[in-house]
Amino acid sequence: MTTHIRNFCIIAHIDHGKSTLADRLLEHTGTVTRREMKDQLLDDLDLERQRGITIKARAVAMTFKRGNDTYQLNLIDTPGHVDFQYEVSRALACCEGALLLVDAFQGVEAQTVANAYAAIEHDLTIVPVINKIDLVHARPDEVAEEMMNSLGTDPEECVRVSAKTGIGIDGLLDAIIEQIPPPSGDPDAVLQAMVFDSNYDDYRGAITYVRIMQGTVRKGQKIQFARTGQSHEVVELGQFVPHRQGCEELSAGQVGYLICNIKSLGDVHIGDTVTILGDKAAPALPGYARPKRMVYCGLFPSDGQDFSELRDALERLSVNDPSFEFEPETSDALGFGFRCGFLGLLHMEIIQQRLENEADIDLVQTAPNVTYEIVDKRGETVTIHKPQDVPDPGDIEEFRQPIVRCSIIVPNEYIGAVMKLCQERRGIQRAHEVLGANRTMLTYHIPLAEVVYDLHDKIKSCTKGYGTLDYEMVGFEAADLCRLDIMVNGNRVDALAIVCHKADADRRGRAVAKKLKAEIAQHMFEVAVQAAIGSRVIARETVRAMRKNVTAKCYGGDISRKRKLLQKQKEGKKRMKAIGSVEISQKAFMAVLSDS
Ligand code: GTP
Repeated sequence: MTTHIRNFCIIAHIDHGKSTLADRLLEHTGTVTRREMKDQLLDDLDLERQRGITIKARAVAMTFKRGNDTYQLNLIDTPGHVDFQYEVSRALACCEGALLLVDAFQGVEAQTVANAYAAIEHDLTIVPVINKIDLVHARPDEVAEEMMNSLGTDPEECVRVSAKTGIGIDGLLDAIIEQIPPPSGDPDAVLQAMVFDSNYDDYRGAITYVRIMQGTVRKGQKIQFARTGQSHEVVELGQFVPHRQGCEELSAGQVGYLICNIKSLGDVHIGDTVTILGDKAAPALPGYARPKRMVYCGLFPSDGQDFSELRDALERLSVNDPSFEFEPETSDALGFGFRCGFLGLLHMEIIQQRLENEADIDLVQTAPNVTYEIVDKRGETVTIHKPQDVPDPGDIEEFRQPIVRCSIIVPNEYIGAVMKLCQERRGIQRAHEVLGANRTMLTYHIPLAEVVYDLHDKIKSCTKGYGTLDYEMVGFEAADLCRLDIMVNGNRVDALAIVCHKADADRRGRAVAKKLKAEIAQHMFEVAVQAAIGSRVIARETVRAMRKNVTAKCYGGDISRKRKLLQKQKEGKKRMKAIGSVEISQKAFMAVLSDS
């Protein structure tokens, strides 16, 4: 009976207490006893614990008794960050309601708004919740007003809780049952289930998370994925309580998992529809979209020896995260490495951190760049993932870059600083909304490349950490862009090419040339460091000729000391990369890449 099922998720800005609230719900429903309770039980990836953020969506079934009724509450945990927007959207499609959680001190933040709009778009019933009312500086009344102004929720309806101490949790459970509608769906119809997540278990293979929309699926049945057409036998199915608990069937309205001996996560697509093999009548659910990779960078091992180790590590990572991709890349400057694609900046950071934690490899990373579209002179559109692939200016008809809509929420005293910053980043203001006595939401369209560059850090620093930013893709727009090359004695250094706005090219070209000059050791001959657009040189620096004599300081005949120094110089040279006949140390690349 679906009347006693509630499917909901918690949406919140980072750190507003989503995981803590999930823990309290598990505890109050008796799903997990206090003794079993490990703080933030749902965040089970090590890295999530370290960073304190939720990366992958999870689903937990709780049994809750109220009077004579027993309810099944399915909590679907959604990732809070925009990089994982597609996963958020699939998780929302599995719910009828959402708890919109806002910190009683911090108030409404950029991601609160973005996530709430997404939930409203999916027609979810919103239960507004104000958390952390135990804090001394809590200001629940003002926050309720901010929520009304930005999201249209009724201040009277806000449930006030402390996820930490447990105050108000019982009232919240009542609100979940009374306000969120039960799922619709007919257990006797043909099977139609949506895949909203998957993860990989070393022993069982891919574990597919599904929400049953219509029909019933039973152990031993042969299921089929609509998108790939592949069919598999269901060897186990069940729910997370929160550990895996097998059962005989899952039917309309329920959320659970399927294990079908699928060897690769690449075969399970989030957003896909599961049907029973042979049941041709069941249509695929709408909304399957491939996650788009918008940010790319090159990863190279500092020591060429580590190449295969790096490949193994990347392969291991991509098994668990199909939205991350990589392909081999060769650079004259950095040797053999990989071009990697990410959903966004946070995704990139997470992958890098995992690589560092899991594989002990020293990495050189090229500056991140976004995906571009170029219409060439023949009228063909090509998608570009790395700056060095941008054709020469004469071959380009139109150069397009991705634009994102940024929502920035700031205390009023910082509005001026943020507006100035957004203008400098070629932002176009779209809206200016007052949220409360002292908070405003600014909406800008800004090139993603500018956001990727350092917008988030800059907003944090010009608002003393109070400003929050969220962004979503709007589309590609033509812009006055160019490929800026860096040349050393006439040779293009591929790893240092960037795409930038023509108006910025002079400044950036000069800055890189200067920086690189400072890092290049003097040679026996003069070395020219140039920045160029196509064949036009826009900046030049010169490293004067001379050879560094490492033994100059050693007077007299201490030959063993001299040998030692020469040996050290030789080792240092091993880590040098030669561009033409000029040797550039890895350190020089790192220095230039760190803020070019
Ligand atoms: P992400 O997973 O990063 O999105 O964060 P989250 O929203 O899951 O937040 P989390 O539950 O990790 O809580 C963030 C911090 O707020 C933790 O240090 C919690 O202990 C604290 N916190 C959560 N709820 C409360 C509360 O009701 N009162 C107080 N005082 N602190 C709370």
